[in-house]
Amino acid sequence: MSTELRIEHLRKVFPTGKPAVDDVSFTIAAGEIVALLGPSGCGKTTTLRCVAGLEHPTSGRIRIGGEVYSDPEAGVLVAPRSRNVGMVFQSYAVWPHMTVRQNVIYPLRNRKLSRAEIDRRMAEVLELVDLTQYADRPVTALSGGQMQRVALARSMVYRPQLLLLDEPLSNLDAQLRLRLRDDLRRIIKAAGLTALYVTHDQTEAVVLGDRIGVMRDGKLLQMDTPETIYNRPADLFVAGFTGASNRIDGRLVALDGAFGTVETPSGHRLNALLPAGATVGAAVQLALRPDNLVFNPPGEGPNRFTARVLSQRYQGVQTLYELELFKNQIEVLEVGSAAHYKVGSDVTVSLPPETCWAYPA
Ligand SMILES: Nc1ncnc2c1ncn2[C@@H]1O[C@H](COP(=O)(O)OP(=O)(O)O)[C@@H](O)[C@H]1O
Ligand SMILES: [Mg+2]
Repeated sequence: MSTELRIEHLRKVFPTGKPAVDDVSFTIAAGEIVALLGPSGCGKTTTLRCVAGLEHPTSGRIRIGGEVYSDPEAGVLVAPRSRNVGMVFQSYAVWPHMTVRQNVIYPLRNRKLSRAEIDRRMAEVLELVDLTQYADRPVTALSGGQMQRVALARSMVYRPQLLLLDEPLSNLDAQLRLRLRDDLRRIIKAAGLTALYVTHDQTEAVVLGDRIGVMRDGKLLQMDTPETIYNRPADLFVAGFTGASNRIDGRLVALDGAFGTVETPSGHRLNALLPAGATVGAAVQLALRPDNLVFNPPGEGPNRFTARVLSQRYQGVQTLYELELFKNQIEVLEVGSAAHYKVGSDVTVSLPPETCWAYPA
């Protein structure tokens, strides 16, 4: 049965350096997939290893299904093998001298199950990962994607209450990665498992996670649905890490509810979404996604400006432009296989106010 994971004020400080995990709290509901996203070294793996019991937390509490598994202050630390947690890593971690079936059955060897029950679970899990026809192949005769599905099947066959995945797609080539990415979500959902999925890849996090938690320097900056992370990032780091790469400096000159007027050093005025507690006169930085700017917007509207096309990078299904917009260089994406705007020409772009996010500078 899948169960809730609750992490409260988790801290892990290694003997060297600053905290690897610094006061992280979040809950994953039963059957929910949460993706922890962040750059290398931000503490994703350490968080996951604390949940697995492979790392001893410095402080904080970890509960699975309401039961306390780790609470250093209270002297509680449940051994990894007693946690009933399934794990999948970046390396395939399959036994090379065994067949698919032997690999998948391995975790059941010490669990007094009947032959019939073992066969039933094997059939079920192989079906789930779509490897039924490969059951008797040696794993060395499989592709990387298939090997990773063997690892997944093996981590699910004993019906863990929680599945932990640490960058399971990073060793695969690009095409396989995309395919297995979609499969993974389907498989985890079909099994009804609660899952914590660690990745540095924003698109993986978006496709796999019911919610995404963005980490930096051991801290959890924001945990929300993919839509909220992409449309209302909590700070400049979350905005930048999820693709809002454009920055425009300015000063807040007027407030109007959730929105306000920002004036750039060049004297242009934009309407933007404001951070909580914003005050007139404050220096702000606007973050904008290249895909949220609109070329040649129809009709009338706010935040329309003339910009100069500085460069054009044709990418087949889309074109990425660099524009000069009142002394800032910003990137804008045109979707579709036709690139309409020539280098050196002037274009009108609109920056829809709900996509202009102001943050304290
Ligand atoms: N066993 C360890 N000993 C000392 N420092 C470690 C150890 N494991 C991880 N760290 C440090 O903790 C921080 C977080 O690492 P990690 O959790 O692996 O990050 P991520 O998985 O996000 O790349 C890094 O600064 C890393 O160097
Ligand atoms: Mg890691």
